[in-house]
Amino acid sequence: MLKKTKKTALLLKLVSMALLIVMIQSLLTLPAMAAATTLGAAAAQSGRYFGTAISNGKLGDSAYTTIAAREFNMVTPENELKIDATEPQQNVFSFTAGDSILNWATSHGLKMRGHTLAWHSQQPGWMQSLTGTALRNAMINHIQKVMAHYVGKLAAWDVVNEAYADDGTQNRRQSNLQATGNDWIEVAFRTADAVEPGVRLCYNDYNIENWSAAKTQGVYNMVKDFKARGVPIDCVGFQTHFTGGSSLPSNFQTTLSSFAALGVDVALTEVDVTQANTTQYAGLTQACMNVARCIGITVWGVRDSDSWRASEAPLLFDGSGNKKAAYTSVLNVLNSVGGTPQPTNTLQPTNTSTQPVGPTLTRTPTQVVTTGPTATRTSTPTTGPSATPVPTTVGGGGCSPVTATITAPFTKDGAGTFCWQIATIPSYVNNWNNNSVTINGTNYTNIYVGSASLPAKINGFYYISYNGSFAWSHLEVR
Ligand code: G3I
Repeated sequence: MLKKTKKTALLLKLVSMALLIVMIQSLLTLPAMAAATTLGAAAAQSGRYFGTAISNGKLGDSAYTTIAAREFNMVTPENELKIDATEPQQNVFSFTAGDSILNWATSHGLKMRGHTLAWHSQQPGWMQSLTGTALRNAMINHIQKVMAHYVGKLAAWDVVNEAYADDGTQNRRQSNLQATGNDWIEVAFRTADAVEPGVRLCYNDYNIENWSAAKTQGVYNMVKDFKARGVPIDCVGFQTHFTGGSSLPSNFQTTLSSFAALGVDVALTEVDVTQANTTQYAGLTQACMNVARCIGITVWGVRDSDSWRASEAPLLFDGSGNKKAAYTSVLNVLNSVGGTPQPTNTLQPTNTSTQPVGPTLTRTPTQVVTTGPTATRTSTPTTGPSATPVPTTVGGGGCSPVTATITAPFTKDGAGTFCWQIATIPSYVNNWNNNSVTINGTNYTNIYVGSASLPAKINGFYYISYNGSFAWSHLEVR
């Protein structure tokens, strides 16, 4: 009997060992994780996107749309959201072409970046002829109206485009916008943030890929200053046009990581490379993959024939839609990164179903205006993030034409009249009854436009709170 039990135990041992060997063998012979076969899918493995510029006029070309829908998961309208396209006459807006691209993208599961709200180029004639306050106000109005149309629908906005000079200095570019005052860029960002705090707000430029370039340092210092002062900026777009002597700098990754260290996302927004050099394409892709806050790459067109510099054949598909060697070099880099977790790249929608692929936007909106009557401070607070009032001087007395977006407790030079305007009325706002602005305890209700004498300052400041049924756009102080 004992002998029989021993035999059975031995047999069981042998069987379980054999089973273990089979299991180990089958584990060892499991097929490797299949590499992704499209750019979008390959980038998505690390929580990033891979996008392309799209031209509305080409959406009827099935060869074009087949590649675009298959390969990419982000689009940027190439020209359709520029100022001349969206506001051809002052205060007359046209969204037909932009909407068409958005509809195409959405119906094919692609997200969209908006390009661009404030730019010295591609301004309509009426804007080119404006100067000073009139131009500043037109810029603000443009940002508000265009963004209001796309609220909740876009992944990002290039709020300001190409504002720095190409003269080997860190200076701003001379332009009619720059002539309205050096604060035009931050006013643009504050305006954009007031319309849609949840969308990624980007500064976008070219020839800022080389860390040693003065232009790069100029933009870097601006972003550093913005972050230090709470100007709402979420990302920097590196256009990455490698052409005309400009090619992949060996320090591109340093540039990306240095900007990222300031607390902004970075993205490659308009990539094209002379003759689609494979080494450069692989290198720029790798630079992005090596930086956790590099959220995605966009090439500036689908096929070479679609490019703004078609004669240089700078894209990933040839004119017949064939994948070029550069395509493979990019895909291989994306696949080599594969599912390597990117710390900040989890897809966490913060805004129902409309959030893009890419990392969560973590910026806390800087507007101090909060809801509810308790938002008004009646004494100097001693604790909390808003303990120290940040004065923003907004201009002279009277209703002189000074415009400011209120994002913090502010001081106003001299006595005078306080004028306000809730500038954007989104279509979804239909009830104004509960809207009110409180300035140092004085309540002003049912506002759209109006004016009043300023109440007394408290500790030298005006404290403003807003109680309403929608996120306000801006308060205009004159
Ligand atoms: O649509 C008209 C067409 O009706 C007309 O017959 C033709 C005649 O020239 O012009 C067409 O418009 C052109 C438009 O592209 C569409 O093809 C404009 O003249 C031309 O100026 C415009 O060029 C665009 C350029 O921005 C304008 O600045 C390019 O397509 C576009 O790729 C390029 O994109 C810029 C980014 O926005 C910012 N970074 C640099 C990048 C490359 O320049």
